[in-house]
Amino acid sequence: MKFIAVCLVMGILMGCNQSSSTTVEESTQQQSLRDLLELPAHMAVPSIPDFNPLTAEKIQLGRFLFYDPKLSANQTQSCSSCHEQILAFSDAVERPFGSTGHQLVRNSQGLANVVYHSTFTWSNNGFLELEEQLNVPIRSDNPIELGVTDSNIEEVLARFDADASYVDMFAAAFPESESGASINKIIFALASFVRSMISAGSAYDQYLLGDTSALTEQQKLGFSLFNGEKFECFHCHTGSNFSVSYRDSNTTEDTIQYPFFNNGLYNVDGEGSYPAADQGLYELTLDLADRGLFRPQSLRNIELTAPYMHDGSIATLREVIEHYARGGRLIESGENAGDGNLSPLKSGLIKTFVATDDEIDAVIAFLESLTDYEFINNPKFSDPFKE
Ligand code: HEC
Ligand code: HEC
Repeated sequence: MKFIAVCLVMGILMGCNQSSSTTVEESTQQQSLRDLLELPAHMAVPSIPDFNPLTAEKIQLGRFLFYDPKLSANQTQSCSSCHEQILAFSDAVERPFGSTGHQLVRNSQGLANVVYHSTFTWSNNGFLELEEQLNVPIRSDNPIELGVTDSNIEEVLARFDADASYVDMFAAAFPESESGASINKIIFALASFVRSMISAGSAYDQYLLGDTSALTEQQKLGFSLFNGEKFECFHCHTGSNFSVSYRDSNTTEDTIQYPFFNNGLYNVDGEGSYPAADQGLYELTLDLADRGLFRPQSLRNIELTAPYMHDGSIATLREVIEHYARGGRLIESGENAGDGNLSPLKSGLIKTFVATDDEIDAVIAFLESLTDYEFINNPKFSDPFKE
C-alpha cells in the first residue's frame, strides 16, 4: 500500500513495477548496494524503494544539487545552509531561518544514516519515504525554506537546463526519461544522495568490529549504563542506528515500527501540552493524546549536532541527561513554565533516576564515541563546488 501511495504522490517517473525477484537476485542486489555504499560488515543493507533504485549517477547529481543555491528561488540557500557536513549535516542554531528570512519551528536534523529511519523529520507518521519528505524543504510555503513555488518553478528548472554539466548529469542519472530537469528528478537525486550518507566509521564502530581498545574504560562504562535499566536510554535509542525508528532491507511490513514518544520536555498546562507553536505528532493528527510525541533520534554524531531536541531547546549533552534523570524538564517561569516530570502524556520509560557525576560523564564519553570523523571529512559527501 505504502509503495502504491508513493507512486501516486510522486508521479510515475521510473515506472512503478514492483519486482518479484528471487532470493538469489535479491542477494546480488544487496551485495551491489553494499559495494555502492561501501558498507562495513556490521551495517545492514538499507531499504531502498523500488521506484527509485540507487545509482552512482543519481548520488552524484544529488550531491551537486544539495550544495547548489540555484535550487532556492532567490538563489541564497541550499540544503547545505542548514545541513553542514562538518556538523554531521545539522547546523549549530536552535531553529534555522529559511531563504526568505522566516524562522522555522524546528531544529535542523543531522542526516547521518537517515536511510535507516522508518519515518522522516522530528515527527511525521506520514513521511515513510524520503521522496515524500523532500518536497517540504524545496516547496513549503509555510514557513519558506528554499521557496520553490508553482510560479517560479519553471525559472528554477531553467537554471539547470541552461547549465551543460547539469544537462549531462541529469541525462546520466535518468537515462530512460525525457531530457531536462524536473522537480521529481531533483527529488529522486537528492533522496539518493541523502541515502548514501552512511556513518559507520566512529570509535564505537571500530569497537563493534573487534578492536576492544577503540573505546576507553570510561566509554565502556558509559555504554553499559546507556544500556542499563537505570538510564533506560536503549529502550528508545537502540540498535546500530540508536533509534527504534528503524528499518533495513530485511525489515518487513509485519516487523516495521513507527515509534513516537513524549519525553517530558514540556507540560505547559499541567495536562501535557507542549508550546502551541509545535506539539509534535498532534499537529498532524489533532488527537490530544499525541501532544509532545516525537521520533526518537539517532544518536550517531550527537556530539556534533547541538543544540538538542526538536526545538533546539537543550544546549548540551549534560543537560540532556539531567533532563532524563529528573524524569522530565522543569521550566520554572515564562510562557512555557511547567513540570515535564508531572506530564500525564510522557512515556512510562521517562522516570526519575539518581546518577552520579561520574556516571553522567561516562554516558557523555560513550555518546562522544559515536562521532565519526571519517564521515564529516569524507570527500564523497563534501561540497563539489569547492573541489
Ligand atoms: C532552512 C533550513 C533547511 C533547509 C534549507 C533544508 N533543511 Fe532539511 N531539515 C531542516 C529542518 C528544520 C528539519 C526538521 C523538519 C521537521 O521536523 O519538520 C529538516 C529535516 C530534514 C530531513 C529529515 C531527516 C530525518 O532524520 O528524518 C532530511 C532528509 C532533510 N532535511 C534533507 C534536506 C534536503 C535534501 C534539503 C535541500 C533540498 C534540505 N533538507 C533543506 C532544515 C532545513
Ligand atoms: C521513551 C523513549 C526515550 C528514552 C527512554 C530516551 N530517549 Fe532520548 N529521545 C527520545 C525522543 C522522542 C527524542 C526527541 C524528543 C524531542 O525532540 O522532543 C529524544 C532525543 C534525544 C536526544 C536529542 C537528539 C537530537 O538530535 O537533538 C538525545 C541526545 C537523547 N535523546 C539521548 C538520550 C539518552 C542519553 C537517554 C537515556 C538517559 C535517552 N535519550 C532516553 C526518546 C527517548
